[in-house]
Amino acid sequence: MTLVIGNLDFYVGCPMTANIIDGKTLANALQSEIAQEVKIIVEKGIQPPGLAVILVGDDPASQIYVRNKKAACAKVGFYAQEFLLPAITTEEDLKKLIFSLNQNPKINGILLQLPLPKGMNEKNMLELISPEKDVDCFHPVNVGNMFLGRPRFLPCTPAGIMEMLKHEKIDLKGKKAVVIGRSNIVGKPLAMLLLSAHATVTICHSRTVNLPGITRDADIIVVAIGQAGFLTGDMVSPGQIIIDVGQNKLGEKLVGDVDFAAVARKVAAITPVPGGVGPMTITMLLKNAWQAARLARKTVASR
Ligand code: GUN
Repeated sequence: MTLVIGNLDFYVGCPMTANIIDGKTLANALQSEIAQEVKIIVEKGIQPPGLAVILVGDDPASQIYVRNKKAACAKVGFYAQEFLLPAITTEEDLKKLIFSLNQNPKINGILLQLPLPKGMNEKNMLELISPEKDVDCFHPVNVGNMFLGRPRFLPCTPAGIMEMLKHEKIDLKGKKAVVIGRSNIVGKPLAMLLLSAHATVTICHSRTVNLPGITRDADIIVVAIGQAGFLTGDMVSPGQIIIDVGQNKLGEKLVGDVDFAAVARKVAAITPVPGGVGPMTITMLLKNAWQAARLARKTVASR
């Protein structure tokens, strides 16, 4: 979806040429489709997909993410259960909760919001979630299957980005895609999905030499580094597509990893923050929960 917004000054306070890739509108459309499908199964007497969201501690950003995820579940008619645990929760207690949710037939997806409080081993805790209910696609079994090209689930943010590129009808074959950031949540899995779509992928990070030279030569740049305004106007070229994964708080304002005002003036298309990748991430979570519920029904039917 390419939206040329009438008054682009709204975004930058100065003229620009880039199309705004509207993730929010696309996410709403996809969520309406999911809601429709939920309605159909519920009318047949089938239980709606169920998602458990666990938050340990009181990280303010995580509290907002969890609230948004729960609201999205309600919007599409999923069953959602929220577990708000104090920061002093022990690994043993968290383990008990995850095991009980693994056994709960009303719950198809379990999301353990990251980061966990200091002292908790994220890797160990994530591995306790049954791979069948791992709607984040963080479990090594699901990561492995995704890397081998036979995914049960797709990781939410990378999948949301791929969906936006598909919707924009951007043919990735042979394109030079540069991913800035090598996290397990975004950078690494996204590079793999871009590679599967036949892009030529470069992953850049804090030790990359001559980053501006690499980004200026790209067709598509994805920035997932967690630093406000990291990608500046001198790092981009005309005709490029820019995907901004950043969600940084500047006072009360939410801003991305891209210096939007300077970059949007030069490139062909760009995702805004807010209203770009963020809503698509939540939508892909819903899609994974739907998929988990569908697979669970299949398993029960085959017994
Ligand atoms: N923290 C930041 N992003 C995510 C995400 O996609 N999933 C989970 N579980 N925690 C996060």
